Amino acid sequence: MYQGAGSFLPFIGWVSPSIDSLLSCSSKWRAYPGAVKYHATTTSKQFHGSMEINNSPLSSLSSAFVERKVEVTLVLVLLSALLFHILRQVVAYKAHTAYGQRHGCLPPPELPYDWPLGIDRIKQLWVSNAEGRLLEFLCSIAKDYEPRNMLSQYLLVGPRAYHILHPRNLEVILSTNFRDYGFGARPSVFSPLLGNGIFTQEGAAWKHSRELLRKQFVRTQYQKLEHFSEHVDNLIANLPQDGVVDLQALFFNLTLDTATALLFGKSVYSLRAGIDQDAQNKIFAESFNIAQEGLAKRFRLAPWHFFYSPSNFRQACANVHRFVEEYIDSRKAQKNEETELENSFSFFDQLAQGSASNTDLRDQLLNVLLAGRDTTACCLSWTFRLLVRHTEVFARLRREVLSVAGSEPPTREVIRRMPYLACIIKESLRLYPPVPLNNRTAIRTTMLPTGGGPDGKNPILVREGELVVFSQYVNSRVKSIYGADAHQFRPERWQTGEMSGIGHAYFPFNGGPRQCLGEDFALMEVSYTVTRLIQTFPVIKLPDDESMQPVGSERQLLTLVLSSADGCRVQLRMQ
Ligand code: HEM
Repeated sequence: MYQGAGSFLPFIGWVSPSIDSLLSCSSKWRAYPGAVKYHATTTSKQFHGSMEINNSPLSSLSSAFVERKVEVTLVLVLLSALLFHILRQVVAYKAHTAYGQRHGCLPPPELPYDWPLGIDRIKQLWVSNAEGRLLEFLCSIAKDYEPRNMLSQYLLVGPRAYHILHPRNLEVILSTNFRDYGFGARPSVFSPLLGNGIFTQEGAAWKHSRELLRKQFVRTQYQKLEHFSEHVDNLIANLPQDGVVDLQALFFNLTLDTATALLFGKSVYSLRAGIDQDAQNKIFAESFNIAQEGLAKRFRLAPWHFFYSPSNFRQACANVHRFVEEYIDSRKAQKNEETELENSFSFFDQLAQGSASNTDLRDQLLNVLLAGRDTTACCLSWTFRLLVRHTEVFARLRREVLSVAGSEPPTREVIRRMPYLACIIKESLRLYPPVPLNNRTAIRTTMLPTGGGPDGKNPILVREGELVVFSQYVNSRVKSIYGADAHQFRPERWQTGEMSGIGHAYFPFNGGPRQCLGEDFALMEVSYTVTRLIQTFPVIKLPDDESMQPVGSERQLLTLVLSSADGCRVQLRMQ
C-alpha cells in the first residue's frame, strides 16, 4: 500500500526515466537480429528457383550490403533519438536551474558517505532493515540535521532524494503543491493485486474515485458502532480467560473481518477460522495475506519490482480477484431479484452504481481493503504494546473507560466523552504511525519553501523526477518539533495545549486532498475495541517474561505498514 517499505527506495538507487528509456531502446535493439533474419528469409524465398544466382558471390554480397545498410540506418536513428533526448534534457535542466536561481533556491546539506556512490550508506540501510531497525537508523541520521530539518541524498544511479522534516515543506507536498507530485512506481508495483483504484490512481481518475468513495465514508460517520460488536465478540472468544496471548495477529483478523463487512456487506469471518468459517472465505483471507506480502516485497525492489512475481503470489492475487468477482456477480444477481435491495444504501451498492465495470468495482473494493485493514490493526497493536508498558497511563485510561462507558458497549457519543482515550490513540499514532515512511516523485520542476542554503532558510529546487521522502515516524522524534521528551509516550501532551500549533508536523493520516478517507472509521474501531477489551479484562498487563523496551528500541517489521516484529504479547485475566 502505503509507501512504507518502498520509501527507502531512494537509498537503493533508482533507475531514472532516461535510463529506463535507454533500457527499452536496448530491448528493441535486441529484437533487431530477429528482424534481420526474417528479412534474409524473405529474400531467399523471393529468389527461390534460381539457385545459381542465389548462391553467387555477387548475390550474397548484395544481400550483405542491404543488411548492413539497414543496420547502419537503425543505429543512426537510435543515436539521433538519443542525442535529441539528451539535448532536450540539457535545455530543460538549464531552464530549471534558471528558475531556481530566480527564486533564490539553494540545495540543503548532502548526506555524507565514505564509499564511492554511497555504498556504505546503502549497506547500513540494508543491515538496519534486516535487524528491524531501519526507522531507528533514519532517525539517527535526521538528528544531525536538526533544527534545519532538511537533507538531500544522491546515492548510486538515480534521482536525488530530499528528506523532508520541516512542517512547512510537508504542507507544500501534501496540500499546497500536491499537484506537482505523483506516486512514481506505486501503480505498477501494486497493479497485480489492486489494478486501478483510488490508491494507485492520479489525476482525473483519482478525483472520480475520491468523490465516489468520500460520499460512502461520510455516510459511515453517521452509522452506529454495532457493526463492530460481532467481530470484537469473536476476537474476545479467541482470547484466554487467564493467560498470555499475542494480540497483534488477532487484530489483523479483526480488521480484515470489519473491513470486509463494511465493503462487501458481509464479513469473511477470519476470527472464526477453525470454527465455522466458510471455505471460500478462508481461501480469500489467506490469499489476501500472501498477496499483500508480495506487494511489500515488490515495493522493496522497485523500480525492479517486475522481477518479483512468483507463482504463489500470482495465484494469491488470482484467488482474491476470483473471490471478489464471484461476490460481485452474486450480489448483482441477488439485487436484480430482490426489489427491497434496490433502495439499499450499502457501501457496495453505492460503489457499484458509480463504477464503470465489474473490474473497476473489484479494484476499488480491494484498494480500500488494503488501505484500511493493516493500518488499523497496527494502530491497535502498538496502542496495547504502549499501554502494558506504561502502567500509570493504562490505569488512568481504565478509570476513564469504567466511569464513562461502564460495562456497556460504547456508542459514538460515549467515545466522544473519553478524551484521554483519544489522546492515547493520537500519541500511539504519533510514535508508531502505521504508515511510517512515504514518498512522492516530482512530476514537474517545483520548489520546497525552506531548508536550503547554509542557514536552511532558502527554498529548494526540486527537479522533475526527483524524490521527496517524508516520515511521521522520524518527525515525531524531532526535538525541535515535539520538545525534549519527543521520544516519550506521554498522551497528556495532547491535552495541555502544547500541541495546538503542531499543524503539518502531525500527519499519520496524511493531509490535504489525499488525506485518509477512513480516519473516522479507524478511530472508532480502535476506540471501540480498546474499550471492550478493558471492560472484559480487569487485568491486561505485560507478561513476566517480556522486557519493558523503551519506545523505539523494539524490533520492528516494516512491510507496507509498521508492525512489531515480536507481536503484542499481553497477560490477560477475566476475574
Ligand atoms: C489507523 C488507521 C489508518 C491510518 C494510519 C491510515 C493512514 C493513511 C495514509 C497515511 C494515507 C495516505 C497514503 C498515501 O497517499 O500515500 C491513507 C489513505 C487512504 N486511506 Fe487510510 N489509514 C487508516 C485507516 C483507514 C481505513 C480503516 C480505511 C478504510 C476503511 C482507509 C482508507 C483510505 C483510503 C481510501 C485512502 C486513499 C485516499 C486517497 O488517496 O485519496 N484508511 N490512509
